[in-house]
Amino acid sequence: MTISKALEKQDHEFLRESGMNGQLDDHLYMYHMPYSYTAEQIRKLRTHIFHLTDRKVPRVIMVTSALPGEGKSLIASNLAIAIAKGEDQHVLLVDCDLRKPSLYQLFKDPPSRGVSEIIQGKARIEDCLVTTSIENLTILPAAKEAPANPSELLESKKAGALIRELAERDGDWFVIIDTPPVQATVDPKIIADVVEGIIMVARYRYTREAEFKMALEVLPREKIIGIVLNAVDELPVKKYKYNKYKYYKNYYSR
Ligand SMILES: Nc1ncnc2c1ncn2[C@@H]1O[C@H](COP(=O)(O)OP(=O)(O)OP(=O)(O)O)[C@@H](O)[C@H]1O
Ligand SMILES: [Mg+2]
Repeated sequence: MTISKALEKQDHEFLRESGMNGQLDDHLYMYHMPYSYTAEQIRKLRTHIFHLTDRKVPRVIMVTSALPGEGKSLIASNLAIAIAKGEDQHVLLVDCDLRKPSLYQLFKDPPSRGVSEIIQGKARIEDCLVTTSIENLTILPAAKEAPANPSELLESKKAGALIRELAERDGDWFVIIDTPPVQATVDPKIIADVVEGIIMVARYRYTREAEFKMALEVLPREKIIGIVLNAVDELPVKKYKYNKYKYYKNYYSR
């Protein structure tokens, strides 16, 4: 079963207002503005995940999308904060986008060892986990230095094995995985096969239907637990104006 949640596009004023703290990126709405409309939408996504009627609560979840720049990292991070804060559950947020890591930027950490070094056998999991200023939230970064072969690393069987190990490491924590876009991945199923749930992101007025469908086709359909429409910039007020304009246009063209 899938369900759509819409996330509005945040304007600069909102982001400026929210960036009071400076320790974490403005886009972490769940942290900076937990009572905003956007945070409310993220909480609804969390509630949806905790109340799926056809399965038990998925504890290993990947966030993906068809194309670059649709909001995967932002939604994965905000969802991780929502679960850590609201459910008082321990969450591990994993940056599996070795092509273009971004969690360290959102959480304003320097790049440090993570998924890439673990898969290459150069580091142990426990040496790479980064605690955050948010209680219950730990991050596993992508890499200290960008690997030369990000796709090969991520598409090796070792990546799947790592996710499994992470999931089992602390029996009841949530593992939220930020991933590269499906279009940039030769075999997105390596990660998809080991997760319990997949959240698909589509960006408003950006993702084309054909691209979205192509991405859906390569992922295990039964694992898709939610679809988020991101960066919607037509709020009800704007929609009203638009309809009014349309009405007059129709009137004059009669
Ligand atoms: N709802 C939103 N409101 C405002 N800005 C947004 C929103 N969602 C995403 N953005 C901005 O769009 C850009 C892309 O977002 P993000 O990095 O989360 O996408 P991504 O899908 O992870 O991209 P990539 O495929 O490159 O990893 C960022 O600059 C982000 O701040
Ligand atoms: Mg990203």
